[in-house]
Amino acid sequence: MSKNMPDGGMPIALTLDPGTYFRCTCGKSQNLPFCDESHSSTGQLPITFKIKKRQKVYLCGCGSSGDQPYCDGSCGVSPAGRE
Ligand code: FES
Repeated sequence: MSKNMPDGGMPIALTLDPGTYFRCTCGKSQNLPFCDESHSSTGQLPITFKIKKRQKVYLCGCGSSGDQPYCDGSCGVSPAGRE
């Protein structure tokens, strides 16, 4: 994932319903933090992840997490409350 994500470099807290999601990794999406297929000319692919039950998640917005697409605290901000 790019280290220059336009997501503010902070964890992104969202409550998601069950389903399959595609996290943008190229930064060109008009629907951040999710993919809108704008990556086609970048050579990057979105990260696919599944949510099994409605829950709050913290998506990485800095690109440093070792647990993509989730924040692992590498940004210096604790993803407290992560479920
Ligand atoms: S936002 Fe990337 S590790 Fe926290």
